[in-house]
Amino acid sequence: MIEQTNPIGATPPRLVEAAMGVFGLLREYFEGAIMVDAQARISWIDRRYRTLLGLPRDFNPIGRPVEEILPNSMLRKVVETGRPILLDIMLIADRQLVVCRIPLKDEDGVVQGAIGFVFYDNVDYLEPILKKLEALQKQLSRAQAALSRERQTKYSLSNFVGVSEMVTELKSQIRRFALRDGPALLLGETGTGKELLAHAIHQASDRAEGPFVAVNMAAVPEALLESEFFGVAPGAYTGADRKLRKGKFELAHGGTLFLDEIGDMPLSIQAKLLRVLQEGEIEALGSNALRKVDVRIIAATSQNIERMVAERAFRADLYYRIAVLTINVPALRDRVEDIGPICERLLETIPPAGELPGWVLEPEAVSLLERYDWPGNVRELRNVLERAAAIAPSEVLDAAVIVKAMPALREMVGDAPAPVADSGALAETLARAEREALLDALRRADGQKAVAARLLGVSRSQFYEKLKRHDLGV
Ligand SMILES: Nc1ncnc2c1ncn2[C@@H]1O[C@H](COP(=O)(O)OP(=O)(O)OP(=O)(O)O)[C@@H](O)[C@H]1O
Ligand SMILES: [Mg+2]
Repeated sequence: MIEQTNPIGATPPRLVEAAMGVFGLLREYFEGAIMVDAQARISWIDRRYRTLLGLPRDFNPIGRPVEEILPNSMLRKVVETGRPILLDIMLIADRQLVVCRIPLKDEDGVVQGAIGFVFYDNVDYLEPILKKLEALQKQLSRAQAALSRERQTKYSLSNFVGVSEMVTELKSQIRRFALRDGPALLLGETGTGKELLAHAIHQASDRAEGPFVAVNMAAVPEALLESEFFGVAPGAYTGADRKLRKGKFELAHGGTLFLDEIGDMPLSIQAKLLRVLQEGEIEALGSNALRKVDVRIIAATSQNIERMVAERAFRADLYYRIAVLTINVPALRDRVEDIGPICERLLETIPPAGELPGWVLEPEAVSLLERYDWPGNVRELRNVLERAAAIAPSEVLDAAVIVKAMPALREMVGDAPAPVADSGALAETLARAEREALLDALRRADGQKAVAARLLGVSRSQFYEKLKRHDLGV
């Protein structure tokens, strides 16, 4: 501990004297100055600097480590390296200020301390640099804010419409699961709202303020999945960025990582994911450093994952780790009473044509919709309503309009399928046929997209591209 009688700490008096001489000479050019000893403890601070930092009158900083009053001070580095930092910019009391730091050495060249000066307002020649820095910093924080908004979730539980007992139960299960922090697995057919519910879990959890990051296993080529997940160290391979590229795990730190279509995760990545879940640490590609991550995993799939485990297409150990909280999202055909309310909500999102006040869905149209089996679930329902809205002659969506918008339904209710000439352009007819084929293949493949692709004789990525084009969920 420094003696109170010796305000200059352990720095030899001769050096202090010399420093004071410099302070005196430069006084009118700086706005604050500080001196530390060889242990980076404050040995002197001028009144103006105290005021700038807002130090209380009765607070005596002498003898304290410099970081106590300047958390990001570099003076310790200066005494440790013996090298000055002649020009730097430092955030002090919410302002960017120019600082200059010089080591104090005795005649043997041994570092005995350091001094730091703070310049501001009067360094007009530095103003352009400061202005530029300020502008860049503003841009950066705007971009960061936009990015974090982007990573925030779009949906909450209230977006999941439903009045059936199944949905009521589902919602209370989701609320309970949100409060626990373990991994969650959402199972259900395509278009049942798994992604929506993943957002909702995040939003109702303690992590709501943190990021929500989604990775679609099926949409990212296998070769890129590892770097997508874990990041790439600078210069990890020829052509790699010179800077670290963060992986989704790191981006999701403090929040939720949504692994969509987890059934499509290649076995090699499954092994790596398992290790991360066990250790809570990630290792970027080409780096040896492990980094701790705090991420909640929510996974979803429309495939029969238990069967995949039995067939060894999915690792059992990984399955048991992510299936701690399992949520089965019911198919639309099993909760027909939800169809009416969901339609009402979906129609609110479809802009009415021209001057129309809004859409009117006739009760007999709803009962018609209730008779269909909805292989594409809510997503398919939305597509039907959009098509109906596009062809409706007025704001009224009645049974006739619905039948027209749904060739599949037309077959089901026994009407003869419309002749091709009746359904407009060739492209439209082909598109509709393709869509039906996709849905049919998905149904036959039990939701397994890789299998459905094989049934149709197209590659996995072609299949995904088509699903995306028809808005059948990727
Ligand atoms: N209960 C619901 N109420 C309102 N909208 C819903 C509901 N369920 C699903 N949706 C809407 O239906 C569409 C499909 O939902 P989502 O993308 O969450 O399905 P999914 O289960 O992830 O499908 P896939 O397995 O094909 O990826 C979205 O536009 C979603 O907002
Ligand atoms: Mg989905």
